[in-house]
Amino acid sequence: MITRKSRAEIAKMRSAGRIVAEVLALVEESLRPGISTAELDALAERHIRAAGGTPSFLGYLGGRKYDVTNPHAYKASTCISIDHEIVHGIPGDREIKAGAVVSVDVGAIYDGWHGDGARTFICGGPEAGTAAARQLVESTRLATMAGIAAARPGAHLDDIGTAVEAVARERGFGVVRGYTGHGIGTDMHEDPSVPNYRTGRRTMKLEPGLCLAIEPMFMLGHEETAVMPDGWTVVTVDRSLAAHFEHTIAITADGPEILTRV
Ligand code: MF3
Ligand code: CO
Repeated sequence: MITRKSRAEIAKMRSAGRIVAEVLALVEESLRPGISTAELDALAERHIRAAGGTPSFLGYLGGRKYDVTNPHAYKASTCISIDHEIVHGIPGDREIKAGAVVSVDVGAIYDGWHGDGARTFICGGPEAGTAAARQLVESTRLATMAGIAAARPGAHLDDIGTAVEAVARERGFGVVRGYTGHGIGTDMHEDPSVPNYRTGRRTMKLEPGLCLAIEPMFMLGHEETAVMPDGWTVVTVDRSLAAHFEHTIAITADGPEILTRV
């Protein structure tokens, strides 16, 4: 079911989105060679709670199911995916090396409403990493902004993926096809799903009140993906580097508003 949010509901999502954006800024400041992914996750969880929110990934089982005691549930507040890991990497003792491509995904609930956002950093700052890694990261960021710009009232859902895919094709990157963006609101994942490529289907017209998480995932090499034995971590099969950016947006009469912004 696709729902449209009121101005008051969007205001609550703005609060959730701000917490997500603050966490991503905090992770960017804190990221340095030798820090572990669990340390970054702890910083994130602490900030979400200090800001009055609840981590939306912790205890997540899929759909709208949560149970922190279930061994299959997601057990952290962030997903941290390194190098050839695309999304859903689980924080742990692993130390991050200089030049690593580090994708950080964060979700927070505030007053019952969700914010979901991700950014990819290169450990050691913007000068670190290979030129190919930097281009991959910058292109994925630009594709996210292109997808958001396409999310205007009156446009079609497929215009978002068409804009995202165009950036990948122009620059010669692969696009993840098996994972998509999504509607968002009182659930983290709502309808519709938002592919990062053109489907050619003119299904849905975008209207004010629709809230979406737009989240392109690009890779340097082949588009084939696999899930690791931990049941979560999604990787490129050819082990090529991947990047992921995500914003939660609200479509307003004036155009898209990014909610995951400080
Ligand atoms: N934030 C991811 C998304 O954009 C979902 C994370 S899955 C979880 O859809 F298990 F970590 F919660
Ligand atoms: Co998302």
